[in-house]
Amino acid sequence: MSIKSTGLREDLLKYLLENFSGEDEFLLNLKNESEKAGIPQISISPEQVLFMQFIIKSINAKFALEIGTLAGYSGISIARALPSDGKLITIETNSERAAFAKQKFPEAGLDGKIQVINSDGLAYLEEFSPNISLDFVFLDADKQNYSRYFEKLDKFLRVGGIFAADNAFGFGYIAGNPPEDDIKDVEGIRSFTQLIKNNKNYITVIVPVGDGLLLALKIS
Ligand SMILES: C[S@@+](CC[C@H](N)C(=O)[O-])C[C@H]1O[C@@H](n2cnc3c(N)ncnc32)[C@H](O)[C@@H]1O
Repeated sequence: MSIKSTGLREDLLKYLLENFSGEDEFLLNLKNESEKAGIPQISISPEQVLFMQFIIKSINAKFALEIGTLAGYSGISIARALPSDGKLITIETNSERAAFAKQKFPEAGLDGKIQVINSDGLAYLEEFSPNISLDFVFLDADKQNYSRYFEKLDKFLRVGGIFAADNAFGFGYIAGNPPEDDIKDVEGIRSFTQLIKNNKNYITVIVPVGDGLLLALKIS
């Protein structure tokens, strides 16, 4: 029985990172190289990698879509958890980042399994009409549009599939007052969270990993 939560103290985070990290040498090098290339270090956290792979494998996901590629850290993590005939489409608006990731995916041995689309996410989805259902969606880009991504992608996600979104804790401000610069993003995350939480076709949770990972399982 648990009557109170144990906050994630530094020693517990260290324990998690030492024992439950999904970051291998390739992903570590990717971070170092992308930093040298001037790409911001805002990828998902190492313990989030293993957790997301756990989720992806537990639902036997085969076809995944990600909004927000950055340097490809999460894309590689997702694609590694898909079967050999699985596929990830990842969308990135910044052309230098998209090009960097495009070059890294074959080096990671994932050529053919990942398609990088250099586009604004919502613009790409205007024409998106896959002939197979999505199993896993990961939102990690423009927070103000999380709800719009959900509205566009819901119909393509199979029952039993998962909608995941990073920064569910809104950079730590979800329950408080964000600084001016973060207000619109935090508001976007808040309204998306309410939208999906109140949708009876989903069971939604927030897992306190990284900056909060929202997971919504489609049940009907
Ligand atoms: C937090 S980073 C993604 C991190 C990545 N998922 C990872 O963990 O390795 C967000 C990325 O989304 C991209 N982005 C922002 N707005 C976007 C949009 N409207 N469409 C597509 N990508 C966008 C940014 O350029 C940035 O590279």
